[in-house]
Amino acid sequence: MSERGNTTVLAALADDLEFERGATKLYGRFANRAEDPLIKELFKELSRGEAGHVRGVRRMAETLRDPQTHVVFFCPLCGWQVDFGVDPAEGTPGKCPMCPGKYALRLIDGDWVLDRLAP
Ligand SMILES: [Fe+2]
Repeated sequence: MSERGNTTVLAALADDLEFERGATKLYGRFANRAEDPLIKELFKELSRGEAGHVRGVRRMAETLRDPQTHVVFFCPLCGWQVDFGVDPAEGTPGKCPMCPGKYALRLIDGDWVLDRLAP
């Protein structure tokens, strides 16, 4: 597992995970305290929704840390995907399959960025 290339987004996901866990517990406490059955059910439903967010955010972070996950960017010229493969080295070139865009990967403060190469 590596944070390489995804440092900023993984930090944001960690913050979001903490928020979602807190919201799950808070809505659960509200549900436990609510006397009105409709309000109780509403807070239970909100808590289940937040728990789903916890699972989704955790899964997203696991995918980004998985060494088998491809490094993929959207082409800044046309929006198509440019795939740099698994565990690319800095400077790995990538060609957009849909337009003339040519790029190379560069690491800045732990995050992948695209350098556009001359056509
Ligand atoms: Fe493109």
